Amino acid sequence: MIVAIDGPAGVGKSSIARMIADKLGLYYLNSGNFYRGVTYRVLKQKLDPTDKELCIKAADEADFDVRDGHFYLDGEDVEAELHTPAIDLWASKISVIPEVRSIVNRNIHELTKKLSIIAEGRDMTTVVFPDAEHKFFFDAKPEVRAKRRFDQNPDAMPYDKVLSEINERDHIDRNKPVGGLKIAPDAIYIDTSYLTINEVCDKVVRAIKGEK
Ligand code: DC
Repeated sequence: MIVAIDGPAGVGKSSIARMIADKLGLYYLNSGNFYRGVTYRVLKQKLDPTDKELCIKAADEADFDVRDGHFYLDGEDVEAELHTPAIDLWASKISVIPEVRSIVNRNIHELTKKLSIIAEGRDMTTVVFPDAEHKFFFDAKPEVRAKRRFDQNPDAMPYDKVLSEINERDHIDRNKPVGGLKIAPDAIYIDTSYLTINEVCDKVVRAIKGEK
């Protein structure tokens, strides 16, 4: 079984998908970590992140793995290092490169073949798993997503800056020439603005089980 979830930054996809994976015993795959991983590699090797060819090479030479829901890059669990402001910024730009996207997608298919999975990102329902049995699109107003991000770490950045970064990332995500954020016609749309994580999780689990 494949459950695919897409939605914009800060909508709660990761927390909710992880919870559902635990509940239903699915393999959890966070596709954003792959783009963050490529970016981590580029920045760690002090390569120029605006050089497309170097980014493609860094993606091509990377060794990706996901074990117990944890993302491994070149044999190391790097998940805790993937959420810096520099990676937020550059991952959104590097993930625009179509060749990087096809390398990431090839790796995702390779890692998940024959598994029952829940995968989340921006193009899981449209490009990577177009035949997924269950598709969801999570959405929330930019102001709500920015407030949630801001509340997680109020000292990191003023609210207005968090909101302008969310708006910028939305713009980049929606306008990618390949793998842009879109609502698949067969996806169930859930506005999470005024729902708790548990409420969204229940809705998704009920839909997967075919309950009302
Ligand atoms: O979900 P996230 O914020 O961790 O994703 C990191 C970056 O990768 C973000 O800029 C969007 C991009 N991304 C993408 O282009 N396609 C995906 N399937 C997942 C993430």
